[in-house]
Amino acid sequence: MEQPIIIERQGRVVIVTLNRPAARNALNSEVMVAMANELAPLDRDPGVGCFVIRGSEKAFAAGADIKEMADKSFSQMYNEDFFAAWDRFASFRTPKIAAVSGYALGGGCELAMMCDMIFAADTAMFGQPEIKLGVIPGMGGSQRLTKLVGKAKAMDLILTGRMMDAQEAERCGLVARVIPAEKLIEETLKTAETIAGYGKAATTAAREAVDRALEGGLREGILFERRLFHALFATADQKEGMAAFVEKRAPAFKGE
Ligand code: HXC
Repeated sequence: MEQPIIIERQGRVVIVTLNRPAARNALNSEVMVAMANELAPLDRDPGVGCFVIRGSEKAFAAGADIKEMADKSFSQMYNEDFFAAWDRFASFRTPKIAAVSGYALGGGCELAMMCDMIFAADTAMFGQPEIKLGVIPGMGGSQRLTKLVGKAKAMDLILTGRMMDAQEAERCGLVARVIPAEKLIEETLKTAETIAGYGKAATTAAREAVDRALEGGLREGILFERRLFHALFATADQKEGMAAFVEKRAPAFKGE
């Protein structure tokens, strides 16, 4: 049987490839469970410093699997708490970059938004077309998209179901970088290696603090950031990082 995801490790970087190319990487339950369960031990592994999530050239992911959902009743969806396993993936603490080539639609766009940043190939197309299926985003899209791009653009996308290209996605703040398609993986991996080369306590703290800006109020966020900042002075990596700067040499972080 085809594996729903392929996991490869390159040093401190873990590359996760969604592996249903014939179905445009539609996110069925198998993919969801594999993303939550198989990546969990890697998330906790101090030797893993960054995840890269990618799809195929044609599609990052064309959404939740419509064929799997089509006949479900309200009771089934509700009792299974359908999609809840995605919350586990979203709450991983290791930095994650989505490398998006081709379509990132519906749940595919929502999966990309669960990552800490999105690098888009110049071929990428983003959208939340659920309205065309008689539903709405169900993997956090109405919330994350609105926080990321603001109400005007979120309403435009979610109410019309239209797609936007990589340039528009970068302009409105959904995407961190637009990269020529043939360079997408190379540049994403280079960035992932940079992030993975830093102390894990610092990168975890950095993303937790940035997320607070979206999830809570300003005063609470600033206090949270300051406390994490203070706490990092208890790590050996902080001592090493600052000593290396003063001594004009490259730091050797140990994740301690
Ligand atoms: C199941 C899908 C799928 C999906 C594509 N496929 N997207 N299967 N779920 N989301 C399947 C097609 O049925 C087809 O299967 C094969 O993949 C290739 O698709 P094509 O349409 O032939 O490919 P192409 O012409 O390249 O068009 C690509 C596409 C289009 C533009 C991405 O497939 C598309 O519009 N897909 C649906 C996008 C969508 O509505 N996403 C939102 C889903 S809902 P066969 O067997 O014919 O080869 C969602 C959130 C749900 O994500 C939340 C509410 C609960």
